[in-house]
Amino acid sequence: MRASTNPQMPTAERYRMFAEVEARGMSACYESWAAGVADDPGTAALIDQLPPEKRQPNLVFSSARFHGADAGDYATFARWLADHWPEVEATSLTHATQTNEPGRCAALLPALAALRGPLALVEVGASAGLCLYPDRYGYRYHTDDGIRMLEPADGPSTVVLDCDATGPVPFPERMPEVVWRAGIDLNPLDVDNERDVAWLDALIWPEHTDRRERLRAAVEVARREPLEIVLGDLNEKVEELVARAPQDATVVVFHTAVLLYLDDAARDHFSETMSRLPARWLANEGQTVIPDVMNRVGELGEEPTSTTDFILSLDGEPLAFTQPHGRALRWLASAQARF
Ligand SMILES: C[S@@+](CC[C@H](N)C(=O)[O-])C[C@H]1O[C@@H](n2cnc3c(N)ncnc32)[C@H](O)[C@@H]1O
Repeated sequence: MRASTNPQMPTAERYRMFAEVEARGMSACYESWAAGVADDPGTAALIDQLPPEKRQPNLVFSSARFHGADAGDYATFARWLADHWPEVEATSLTHATQTNEPGRCAALLPALAALRGPLALVEVGASAGLCLYPDRYGYRYHTDDGIRMLEPADGPSTVVLDCDATGPVPFPERMPEVVWRAGIDLNPLDVDNERDVAWLDALIWPEHTDRRERLRAAVEVARREPLEIVLGDLNEKVEELVARAPQDATVVVFHTAVLLYLDDAARDHFSETMSRLPARWLANEGQTVIPDVMNRVGELGEEPTSTTDFILSLDGEPLAFTQPHGRALRWLASAQARF
């Protein structure tokens, strides 16, 4: 669990950790807002009116931005929050952090393309399902030897994902063929519902303009090709969804930035399910989230560049370190032999 999502931690400490560990280098605005809250007992007391699991900076700041808080200095934000607390409180209570980042497809694509097709995709923790369209986006992998482009089979996409790629990445020559796609989420968001899309927008950190533009373009892609996102817990629904996938396709169950929301028992349950389902298991999660994968990384003598890197793994075997929003991919030398 990240410090900022740890409900046991006092608010000031939680916001300080968020400022220094998660926001620094990612959002100057959120760094200053979170550091401001940490030093401001009045605002922290306001936030403490929320239940502990709802006090996380990402949720409170997103709710504020959903209601129109402008990115700017802390003093202005603190005044705005005091004036608009009832709306922010209500939204924090009814919403959750469900960032849907199609950029993560850049981390998934080489592994998906290396599997025997056609593919049936099942995403657990799909949010609005924007990562279920990896074959509908374009890719620009920036390598030491130049740019490797990949475009959808039917022509250029309005969504092009840039990703710095290092190591022996098995760059695909062509898109994987996806014949079926579906998701599961505790609270599926609907790309046709403007308020859901506005919430997804508010979840994007203020300075990340490129991600905001990409979200809008990916929503248009998803609107053109609707898919089903089953409402429910991934542990309860994954088996039946895999059973519904076409039997002549390779079923790939995948997830990115999801298992951190589960407790240890639920993660173990999911890993056990994946070990026996007739499906490949592609995971892109924080380093401590799947201990067996992290242990394998250690056995292989690999070292992440940063503590915030995710690990991409296939059927429990680590493949790459990835930047959490898919901006970079470092393929492991030890994974080369598997492709
Ligand atoms: C941070 S979002 C990531 C969404 C998407 N995978 C992506 O990378 O863009 C995590 C999603 O997992 C969902 N989620 C969390 N726990 C879940 C569970 N036990 N079962 C199903 N979905 C869950 C949340 O509702 C949320 O939409």
